[in-house]
Amino acid sequence: MDLELTSTTVRNPVEPVKLLVLGGGYTGSRLAAIAARLGISGVISHRQVDTQPSAQASLGAGDWQLVGFDSDNGVLPGAEALEGITHVVSTIPPDRRGDDPVLTKLAGLLQDLQPRWLGYLSTTGVYGDTGGGWVDEGSPCKPGLERSRARRRCEQAWQATGLPLQIFRLPAIYGPGRNPFGDLRAGRSRLLHRPGQVFCRVHVDDICGALLHCLSLPAAQRPPLVNVVDDAPCPASEQLGYAAHLLGCKLPPVQPFATARANLSPMALSFWQENRRVSNALLCQQLGYRLRYPSYREGLRAALAEEGAQPEGREAGSAT
Ligand SMILES: NC(=O)c1ccc[n+]([C@@H]2O[C@H](COP(=O)([O-])OP(=O)(O)OC[C@H]3O[C@@H](n4cnc5c(N)ncnc54)[C@H](OP(=O)(O)O)[C@@H]3O)[C@@H](O)[C@H]2O)c1
Repeated sequence: MDLELTSTTVRNPVEPVKLLVLGGGYTGSRLAAIAARLGISGVISHRQVDTQPSAQASLGAGDWQLVGFDSDNGVLPGAEALEGITHVVSTIPPDRRGDDPVLTKLAGLLQDLQPRWLGYLSTTGVYGDTGGGWVDEGSPCKPGLERSRARRRCEQAWQATGLPLQIFRLPAIYGPGRNPFGDLRAGRSRLLHRPGQVFCRVHVDDICGALLHCLSLPAAQRPPLVNVVDDAPCPASEQLGYAAHLLGCKLPPVQPFATARANLSPMALSFWQENRRVSNALLCQQLGYRLRYPSYREGLRAALAEEGAQPEGREAGSAT
């Protein structure tokens, strides 16, 4: 059964589910909040539980617990806190050494839990650069960046566990609180353009929706790899232009990437080193997931509405 929520469309699992979300960051906390509203109970980890007062509040009256997990400082959840867990999602990225923090510290505990399903959030960076060409789950992994090579090694380590794993490959994640609006308002945005360069993205609620959709499929129908991306790869300048249009503010002057690159941070530069279009045909056509936000247009409008922002004194012709 599909449930239409205020922020996402998710499937209501038929079997009883008690979910363990490892890493209550941006996506993990959103997933727990949506699951709680669906009546799913669970446990969510943070590195410092005592500094997360808002996390418990965002879970509302749902039957959710916070546990500490910090692979760097020996903070581990006890087995009793994880009693009854049936399904697991790991949102935790590789550590500084490139190892998976969960597998380093919790592999035995996960084996003991014998979960019915485990979702691992990875990145579409593992496909590497395709010069703008399309990739799907059958495409070879040719990670060009060191962090993507580490990620691929973590994917392989997860695959070697023998757990009932699905890997979800994600592009840039956006949504309420993570979008271009803040920088536009503060005058910090840069409008970079490089002919032919596109970026893929996904709204955080579609990650949560896709996870819950796949979790509720029969085990035999769950593919081992699933791309979770929207329908609209496009230039960064196009998305920024639409965000400025929604705010009614002026865009900064366009800067050709070739001249702006000297002033970009190494991290920002790394995003521009790769150009690919990632297909969601498996998720949306074969598995039947319906994107709540098929493009940045619906997604940014919803994010702005959720942030409670009002358009500020729109100037005619200020942005497109
Ligand atoms: N952001 C993107 O655009 C993007 C794109 C593609 C893929 N991804 C990947 O998708 C996943 C979810 O992304 P996100 O943006 O939601 O992540 P996020 O907000 O950065 O959350 C990451 C979570 O991992 C926890 N964590 C990090 N290191 C840890 C460690 N050593 N031990 C225990 N916990 C640790 C953090 O704990 P605290 O709660 O204590 O901070 C946090 O809850 C990540 O693996 C990310 O790399 C992200």
